[in-house]
Amino acid sequence: RVKDRATGLDKFVLREARGSSVEVYLYGGQVTFWKNNFGHQLLFVSNKATFKPPKAIRGGIQICFPQLGSHGALEQHGFARNQYWSVDESPPPFPVATSNCHIDLILKSSQEDLKIWPHSYEFRLRVALSPRGDLILTSRIKNVSSDGKPFQFTFAYHTYFSVSDISEVRVEGLETLDYLDNLQSKNRCTEQGDAVVFESEVDKIYLSAPPKIVIIDHEKKRTLVLRKEGLPDVVVWNPWDKKAKAMPDFGDDEYKNMLCVGAAAIEKPITLKPGKEWLGTQEISAVPSSYSSGQ
Ligand code: BG6
Repeated sequence: RVKDRATGLDKFVLREARGSSVEVYLYGGQVTFWKNNFGHQLLFVSNKATFKPPKAIRGGIQICFPQLGSHGALEQHGFARNQYWSVDESPPPFPVATSNCHIDLILKSSQEDLKIWPHSYEFRLRVALSPRGDLILTSRIKNVSSDGKPFQFTFAYHTYFSVSDISEVRVEGLETLDYLDNLQSKNRCTEQGDAVVFESEVDKIYLSAPPKIVIIDHEKKRTLVLRKEGLPDVVVWNPWDKKAKAMPDFGDDEYKNMLCVGAAAIEKPITLKPGKEWLGTQEISAVPSSYSSGQ
């Protein structure tokens, strides 16, 4: 655990023996840095990110809970990304085996949250590095209400990937899917074409996507692979030039070097009965494109 000198916020740095590492802030439970065994920062964090609560950190992997975007009555993307998480010293046993190189965080409903979202929950987040440096995030959300009532939420790992040139990027796995277009009043449309490419602002939620999505970043000859479980949908966002200029914590030209693609559950909100726990995982890996991405 270290206090980041520049930001004054507490963060953890995990290092795996073969060279991969990840940095996670208690603020937002947010991963801001990840490099695998090949050795580069693979996430995008804006040069203008403020690291000043209550604003969310612009970049890395934002935890959107209990609401994604404006799909509900709460603040944009819910409140988990603007809260201080704690270290979970003794997490209950995991239902699935995970890597030994990990850290566990926890967020519980505060008195403030209960005023705007009257449901008691425990949100456990495990951030893990596999031996080859893949980054695995596992969220376990439990309904601990004593009122006997179920609650519903939507969720996303809002993941800002670093890319060399957005106009050279292709995303595979989303073609032919239905999506909700946030730029067209959340209208439901169907994707056409062989792969998703980027020529203007994109703000979409692809519905019932396959468990594996591939992001091919030509110039850097890198392929990013996202695998997901328990999360049917995928959020894809790039603000492009005009929206970029309108965001105070985002550089005017930075849209060229980032792309948000993240596993999500939106169309069908998750319903949790009291005492029940939900689990959702996102695993990301990156290989030089000369390696096969078909693994
Ligand atoms: C996307 C939303 O998921 O996130 C966009 O659909 C939004 O509408 C973007 O602009 C960034 O959100 P924020 O709150 O971090 O600026």
